[in-house]
Amino acid sequence: MTNISITNSKNNVGAYINDIDLKNVDQNKVAEIKKALNKFGVIFIKEQNLDPESYQNFAKSIGQPVIYPRLKGLDEKFPFINVIERKPDDKNLSFGSSWLHQDTSYLADERPRYTMLMGIEIPGGQGNTIFSSGFNAYEKLPAEIKDKIKDATGIFSSAGPISVTRLEREKEMGIKSSESMEAEHPIVKTVNGKKTLYVSPGHLMKIKNVEEKEADYLKDYLINHVNKEEFIFSYEWSKNDICLWDNLSILHMASEIKNCKRVMYRITIK
Ligand SMILES: [Fe+2]
Repeated sequence: MTNISITNSKNNVGAYINDIDLKNVDQNKVAEIKKALNKFGVIFIKEQNLDPESYQNFAKSIGQPVIYPRLKGLDEKFPFINVIERKPDDKNLSFGSSWLHQDTSYLADERPRYTMLMGIEIPGGQGNTIFSSGFNAYEKLPAEIKDKIKDATGIFSSAGPISVTRLEREKEMGIKSSESMEAEHPIVKTVNGKKTLYVSPGHLMKIKNVEEKEADYLKDYLINHVNKEEFIFSYEWSKNDICLWDNLSILHMASEIKNCKRVMYRITIK
């Protein structure tokens, strides 16, 4: 029996959780939210009214929030909240834009699994977050590709294609860039009993454990595949919305923002 109301989103990329006030959720409701999160990969909870404290508390009810390696916390009281700010005169692409990715796929162990964003200041008509479902993308792969990649692993690097925007952004924020990090993970994972694609195109350098002569072809094939329109949902933000996703089953990227300000609070969770 479920006691929360759920509506599927476009292309079945995640689901909305309706009629809920995250300030007042009991353990049963939290368990239902986690169940929906693992089943759908990403959940959208519109127009909440959370102060930083209740936002951080909600994150703690989902799992263990972590200090993100490359970003500063909001302040001492809220070390887990990172402020993601886009200013009107920012010239560069926004952080995490232009390449679908799965956060911190370049970490070997102890990868934070979930990422959560809350809309603080939202410009109208732009700055959507784009999600792609690894579940749906895997399901629609031709059987022969599924067979070829069943034991494949990927080499993921923080110096992958997405790093161009990251390095520019870090420079703007005055963060000294650390050395690049690299990790190897299976590219087919099982979450909630369902197989999903873990290919993080923004970090993927190489596919291993496949026929050597097919490695480049498969890499391009899979990157192209997860970018197909049928697996994508472009989420249009309103102020105080919450998006929470599982990086094992959902890929995401920011869309372009021009000449306006946007502020998000982000928490990553193990
Ligand atoms: Fe990201």
